[in-house]
Amino acid sequence: MDVTLDTEQDTLAFGARIAAVLRPGDVLTLVGDLGAGKTTLARGLIQSRLGDIDVPSPTYTLVQTYDWGEVELWHCDLYRMEAPDDALELGLLDAMGEEIVLLEWPDRLGALLPDDALSIDIAFDGEGRTVTLKGFEGRNV
Ligand SMILES: Nc1ncnc2c1ncn2[C@@H]1O[C@H](COP(=O)(O)OP(=O)(O)OP(=O)(O)O)[C@@H](O)[C@H]1O
Ligand SMILES: [Mg+2]
Repeated sequence: MDVTLDTEQDTLAFGARIAAVLRPGDVLTLVGDLGAGKTTLARGLIQSRLGDIDVPSPTYTLVQTYDWGEVELWHCDLYRMEAPDDALELGLLDAMGEEIVLLEWPDRLGALLPDDALSIDIAFDGEGRTVTLKGFEGRNV
């Protein structure tokens, strides 16, 4: 499924649509070049449930966690993670499959990335963006 997002507001609103279909244990990869809108989408997703809170990019912390009802939501930016094994130290391997985990730069995990991860690819498209979803079959996005 492809969706066109013309503005930042559209990306935030699309994040809210994704929030509504996520389940505990989901791993969602957010893929796209620098500045594509991965953090913006995550921000819309998180704020749709938690209100107008600050959702910083986890550029340096690598992980930010949020209360998500019965589980936590982990927002991760792995750009600066040097080796896949560092995910162990972050607790990310335990979180995946239990909590809801959003991953920017999921390629840093190498073979540790679960096969059944949902994915959203964000591509620059003129002034806006096009997103491509994979793995959302049976979910009413
Ligand atoms: N649909 C859209 N159309 C136009 N601009 C957008 C759209 N969605 C987001 N943007 C803008 O694009 C930029 C995206 O920044 P953001 O930090 O979300 O990117 P990122 O993919 O997380 O980058 P990084 O790889 O550095 O983490 C922001 O300036 C935002 O306003
Ligand atoms: Mg980002």
